[in-house]
Amino acid sequence: MTGEVATTGPGGDWAERAFEAMAPLYDDFTAHHEYEFWTAELLKVLEREGLTGRRLLDVGCGTGKSFLPMLQRGWRVVGCDISPAMLDQARQKVDDAVRLEIADMRELPCFGEFDLVWALDDAVNYLLSVEELEAALAGMRSNLAPSGLLLFDVNELLVYGFYAEGVEVERDGRRFFFQGTAGGKVEPGSLCEFLCYETPGEGEGRSASERRNVSVHRQRHFTEAEVLAALDRAGLECLNVYGQSTDGIPRQPLDGAVHTKAVYVARAA
Ligand SMILES: C[S@@+](CC[C@H](N)C(=O)[O-])C[C@H]1O[C@@H](n2cnc3c(N)ncnc32)[C@H](O)[C@@H]1O
Repeated sequence: MTGEVATTGPGGDWAERAFEAMAPLYDDFTAHHEYEFWTAELLKVLEREGLTGRRLLDVGCGTGKSFLPMLQRGWRVVGCDISPAMLDQARQKVDDAVRLEIADMRELPCFGEFDLVWALDDAVNYLLSVEELEAALAGMRSNLAPSGLLLFDVNELLVYGFYAEGVEVERDGRRFFFQGTAGGKVEPGSLCEFLCYETPGEGEGRSASERRNVSVHRQRHFTEAEVLAALDRAGLECLNVYGQSTDGIPRQPLDGAVHTKAVYVARAA
């Protein structure tokens, strides 16, 4: 889809607009994502990599789905996100139990020392250049305790192929769509634009082609080589790279032909 999407404009601005619009629907769009299972699998990986302690910084925490299972496990959590509306949704779930801050991950403040910093469910793909990725990783590094670990996932090309065809999610008679705006093959390292929207459910007596609550998402695909170079420049050592498909289980080796996500684990170099 390179060339059909304007490459100007910093990622954070696009992301903020997209998630301010999507916030009220985000949990419905992602109702099929099993965060309890996924975070348990990620913790198994992190424990193998030497995780100690229970202080989490969740970068791009959104509505809180990526930190709620950790809270239930007794972790102390700080969450941050560029979208105030996403954080409002999170706040309704946890009141004062979690410190929630509006922050752009490209200019991440130091919120403290954390045993684990993570950015889950393709939050990092909303950065639209390797420079933005490097700035975000450097900010995450500055929040790590001396033995702290960083984990994040990025979408593999397979996901953008699915979006190009259109992905429908149905929940309680409601229908949600992810739809790429340009057809064709997505090249490694390119930008991809897709819409998220709802269409009338059966029985509403409205045209199924009507699009409601449309949000426009721009993501950049990052190749493994780009991520590894950005980690290195940000002063981080990559410990391991995993591939994950829709079953939510990280496995090695990463294989772009079968995996929808790459999962990176790193620590300060
Ligand atoms: C797909 S959502 C994932 C939310 C949450 N981590 C989860 O797993 O449900 C991506 C999140 O990243 C946030 N985000 C995107 N770009 C950002 C940036 N530059 N700084 C901080 N947050 C950002 C969005 O606002 C959104 O809440």
